[in-house]
Amino acid sequence: MALKPKQLACAVLFSGVGTTTRALLDYAARPQSPYRIDLLVTNNPDAPGVALAAYYGVELLLLPDRPQGRFMPRELWDAQLGTELATRKPDLLLLAGFMRLLGAQLVQQWQDKILNIHPSLLPKYPGLDTHRRVLEQKDDEHGFSIHLVTPELDAGPLLWQERLRVEATDTPDKLKHRVQQLERHFYPRVVELIALGELQLSSSGTKLREKQLFTTGTL
Ligand code: GAR
Repeated sequence: MALKPKQLACAVLFSGVGTTTRALLDYAARPQSPYRIDLLVTNNPDAPGVALAAYYGVELLLLPDRPQGRFMPRELWDAQLGTELATRKPDLLLLAGFMRLLGAQLVQQWQDKILNIHPSLLPKYPGLDTHRRVLEQKDDEHGFSIHLVTPELDAGPLLWQERLRVEATDTPDKLKHRVQQLERHFYPRVVELIALGELQLSSSGTKLREKQLFTTGTL
């Protein structure tokens, strides 16, 4: 009997709507997918994305970071997550609209195993409000970046970027829509390449976009 190739087990961390998480789940649900998603984690119990867990039949870990309305110390929240992950041992953590900074200790424990997607062409525009900032700076291009997570915000080694042209008629909302379309297309495919061993993850040796899937910024 032929052995089934080992699938890469992923956990997805999100804080909001969850459109990126859904794209990852949909792609993982295809027959023969080299990766699977066993766990969804959120720091926000009110996130619309919470509903995805029941819909896709995936375990949900609710770790509110503001129980009783007060922010929990970062180390405490990270320690809770670390404990939960230690029992489940996913191969990869995928941040998808996860709006928390992970502390240095947790990041070190999961070194080269945490990916983030960010809506700008890093190193430009780390942080929030990227679409508005691109328009304010009158940039003629924008896009997204997938990178390895380090303790510094949006600063880890870049793995993948896709660009699109900024149009004269663009607003922050229009740009957000177009960037998110690209993100939903590429993030699952980049994870697939990692699962197939075609993209290597290592903070020392990571090269930006080792293999190009698509040449244009618009789908
Ligand atoms: C995506 O555009 C992602 O790049 C961004 O949040 C959105 C997630 O939307 N992430 C960040 O800004 C992280 N710095 P979603 O909740 O609909 O998946």
